[in-house]
Amino acid sequence: MAHARAPHQSRCAPEVSVPENESTTAQPGLENLLHETRSFPPSPEFAAQANAQPALYEEARADRLAFWARQANDLVTWRTPFTETLDWSQAPVARWFADGTLNAAYNAVDRHVEAGLGDRVAIHFEGEPGDTRTVTYAELQRDVSRAANALAALGVETGDRVVIYLPMVVEAVVAMLACARIGAPHSVVFGGFSADALRSRIADAEAKLVITADGGYRRGAASALKPAVDEAIAPKEGADPTTVEHVLVVRRTGQDTAWTEGRDVWWHDALESADTTHTPVWVEAEHPLFILYTSGTTGKPKGILHTTGGYLTQAAYTHRNVFDLKAESDVYWCTADIGWVTGHSYVVYGPLLNGATQVIYEGTPDSPHQGRWWEIVEKYKVSILYTAPTAIRACMKWGEEIPARFDLSSLRVLGSVGEPINPEAWMWYRRVIGGDRTPIVDTWWQTETGAIMISPLPGVTAAKPGSAQVPLPGIVADVVDDEAHSVPNGGGGYLVLSEPWPSMLRGIWGDLERFKDTYWSRFPGIYFAGDGAKKDEDGDIWLLGRVDDVMNVSGHRLSTTEIESALVSNEIVAEAAVVGASDDLTGQAVVAFVILRGEHAARAADADGAAAVQTELRNHVAKEIGPIAKPKRILVVPELPKTRSGKIMRRLLRDVAENRTVGDATTLADSSVMELISAGLQKPSSSDD
Ligand code: PRX
Repeated sequence: MAHARAPHQSRCAPEVSVPENESTTAQPGLENLLHETRSFPPSPEFAAQANAQPALYEEARADRLAFWARQANDLVTWRTPFTETLDWSQAPVARWFADGTLNAAYNAVDRHVEAGLGDRVAIHFEGEPGDTRTVTYAELQRDVSRAANALAALGVETGDRVVIYLPMVVEAVVAMLACARIGAPHSVVFGGFSADALRSRIADAEAKLVITADGGYRRGAASALKPAVDEAIAPKEGADPTTVEHVLVVRRTGQDTAWTEGRDVWWHDALESADTTHTPVWVEAEHPLFILYTSGTTGKPKGILHTTGGYLTQAAYTHRNVFDLKAESDVYWCTADIGWVTGHSYVVYGPLLNGATQVIYEGTPDSPHQGRWWEIVEKYKVSILYTAPTAIRACMKWGEEIPARFDLSSLRVLGSVGEPINPEAWMWYRRVIGGDRTPIVDTWWQTETGAIMISPLPGVTAAKPGSAQVPLPGIVADVVDDEAHSVPNGGGGYLVLSEPWPSMLRGIWGDLERFKDTYWSRFPGIYFAGDGAKKDEDGDIWLLGRVDDVMNVSGHRLSTTEIESALVSNEIVAEAAVVGASDDLTGQAVVAFVILRGEHAARAADADGAAAVQTELRNHVAKEIGPIAKPKRILVVPELPKTRSGKIMRRLLRDVAENRTVGDATTLADSSVMELISAGLQKPSSSDD
């Protein structure tokens, strides 16, 4: 009964039934349907020892820019101090701490060694096959210096772009820091992306060097990486010749690798012959630190540009305060791949700037068994764990008896990021992983924001399951209606960021107009994040998914996320995805795709069983949220289509729901999923009332 709704959660969601002729425009924003009354204040002991105290909010409110200047001075070491905090005269391109100079790698590594912390472990590396490596800050300094010298020897200069296409190995961190050390912006491309995706990213950034590996380990097997690089930079009809001059190759798996003499260089050879000392290149605060490509509404990926001083300031500030990091005693683990922004800010820059000891794990959570993560937590006594709701839901599906086999008592803070976390998944995370003891921080941010923006502070905020709650001190966020008016508590609308923040994107690589159009044109002068959100009675912010995931049913704007949460709160449902499908009668209709929990899966095997499950779940949603939210169709499926970063591809589900040919599915982690889904849907299933 892990998912039965707790008795103290309100069931009195309003029955929303709008008279037929009532104008839909009378309903500003999103319907506010799901009510959450559970609250988890920090224990007095946690609150007393927390890095972030309530005074942080007061300080930031009193003088926001002075607050950020203090963070920049306290958490970052400057070669030349800055005198101006923010220059917003070129809005929407911000300049933070612009006349200061610094180096990111120096801040992440060297200064800790200079402070006598060279023997502190920076990284406990755990390979998927079980190989391990421990890297101290002093060792990291030597490796980063060698790599920086090796890059320079290959002709990489300050300002040149370097593409990094690596598995989750220590060398990925070293490569990023080596680039930062010489002021060459890195563009990390997730190792799961195809050669085509890699080609377009290399071309857009006009990269001079690619750093890759022969392969990496995934699900028990060595999976090649270098062939994709070879293909991505090979001459291609209609494409410009590649800008890449060299490929630096880390040997990870030892598998056979095609070699182009003169172009390809082994990482270990290049590092072996390189000097172990290197003087960092001091750059201006606004010097580009990295580009990270992310998908937008059009097909062409956007190269999100981040610069140095402001980004580092906010990465370090959020990592220290949101996770309550105690560098001397904590063992921190963020499960994100360095191919995503979370890996940039909360594996590389945030933790290393703060001198943390962290775990890096190469593989998947179920290799070689479904307890692998919990085994790692036990082994390294991980105290802070930062992961994604999709992973939490996978663990829920596998069953709580698996984590129960391991000692998780070292954990003291849990974090979540990437998508709204359903209240039931939040409760499971806290109870099963956190031993009903740990604060959970649900952190909202984006590739574009660079660092966490909205999140509880673990020693201050009384946490509400499913809500990211409050902007961090120094951040100004709001929920507004179509006319950019702040909605009252209880109302829903669009999440916006109304004041610039240090780690904000400085643009889209090579496309200033697209930057302005995408983020600054919906509400002139303020940043629109693309997410729907609501404010509850206390003014806490709830994220409701991308606005394209918002449905309009009979003039009611409904969030896919809320209906998914309602479905997952039923004990027979393991996972759910909801889409709006066009409907003649209601504009859009709610269509739900659900995976049933192990022992219930067989119930939907025949048409009668499927119909019974559908009726049960429709009634459940009606009870939890209101009849308006009742899915018109509920399709029981064996899997959901997900990208490699774990995001459900609702676009493909909408194609199925609207009986269209399924569109481009090339970014799916497992391309056979759509066939499985379509094959299982030959059985008729429709709504009866
Ligand atoms: O829709 C929001 C969702 O993820 C989007 C940003 O995705 P990306 O740039 O890939 O970065 C993911 C890691 C920061 C947001 O626009 N999102 C992220 N965190 C949350 C979230 N939605 C709800 N709650 C969150 N905590």
